[in-house]
Amino acid sequence: MEREGEERFCFIAEWYDPHAAFIRRYQFMYYVKDGTVEMFDIKNHRMFLKKTRIETIRPEDLYIGNTVNILSRQMNFVDYGDDFTRARLSHKKERTLGMIKPDAMSKMGQIIDLICQKGFLITKLKMCQLNRNEAFQFYQEHQGKPFLDTLLNFVTSGPVIAFELMGENCVSQWREALGPTDSAIARSEAPQSIRARFGKNKTENACHGSDSSSSAARELEFFFPSNGPSRQNTAKFTDCTCCVVKPHAVKSGLAGKIISSILEAGFEISMLEMFNMEKANAEEFYEVYKGVVQEYGSMVAELTSGPCLAMEIRAQNAPQAFREMVGPSDPEIARHLRPRTLRALFGVDKVRNAVHCTDLPEDGLLEVEYFFKILGR
Ligand code: CDP
Ligand code: MG
Repeated sequence: MEREGEERFCFIAEWYDPHAAFIRRYQFMYYVKDGTVEMFDIKNHRMFLKKTRIETIRPEDLYIGNTVNILSRQMNFVDYGDDFTRARLSHKKERTLGMIKPDAMSKMGQIIDLICQKGFLITKLKMCQLNRNEAFQFYQEHQGKPFLDTLLNFVTSGPVIAFELMGENCVSQWREALGPTDSAIARSEAPQSIRARFGKNKTENACHGSDSSSSAARELEFFFPSNGPSRQNTAKFTDCTCCVVKPHAVKSGLAGKIISSILEAGFEISMLEMFNMEKANAEEFYEVYKGVVQEYGSMVAELTSGPCLAMEIRAQNAPQAFREMVGPSDPEIARHLRPRTLRALFGVDKVRNAVHCTDLPEDGLLEVEYFFKILGR
């Protein structure tokens, strides 16, 4: 149901009570405005939890199959509690872990574009470099297999991009999009699949996908740990400038196309990560524009309106060279004067101008550090 300013999601949650040895069912309510949770015990018709803020529960945790911890009980969402919730959330039922492997990193733009076109939602994304121990941990199920050593050499041979996908039957849908493990077999049996199109052989097969929802949970935790330090990023902090694909462009599914354009122009993308910017961080990041650019407030609002993709871009004279490619800040002007620039091609208006890039050469490194040393810690 939706009262004004009181958007509320409702689920049926189950908890296995070990003392009574049976499953208790609850009506679970989440109030979006203040992030509070309220629960009723269905069988006993009584309040189980009064409206309370539970820091660990976020809107993105609300999907069937997910388990959340409430009052030290592992509550499992088994169904929607009302039609409003079903209508609003049913498209994002499941999550999986995908990864672009080292052999396909030069195709990252095309692969990300394909992911968006196929209707998967990318909810997390990060470029990382795995060491051998980490790779072994990630592929632990293959311990003892004859190809393990080859596989570990391969996945540690360069950076990878790990991402969380969300969508209906996401685990199997993503496996389907990948095609068979062996790229050669993929080319004969599923010629449109990712491995057929971008893979080379049975080891270098472009992308990974979790094989079940339990693998997905483990692998997502590996790359995107819910607590503790995250994986080592690949930022180099030299000869660099910062690019941010703005939320409107990410939402419109343009990220892959923008990345492809950047790579085709000869720039190196040495780090890439998805962020959900807090208002305070966006204000800090845009500090230099405060009081100078009229759109400052709208720029902050845009940058916090959804996930953005931050990059470390490397080249000679990276800040100036990349600025040239991005074009004038107003896409209308860009379309007239510099029709091949990123903003001319992908921008909407002065605030939704597709990408941010570092303005002053001396700020290139600082902005890269802001994302990958301060926010990305
Ligand atoms: O990735 P997928 O789940 O399709 O296949 P897997 O059997 O779980 O194997 C994991 C990865 O090991 C594959 O994606 C290949 O990169 C590699 N592999 C290999 O190098 N040689 C094989 N005979 C099988 C797999
Ligand atoms: Mg597998």
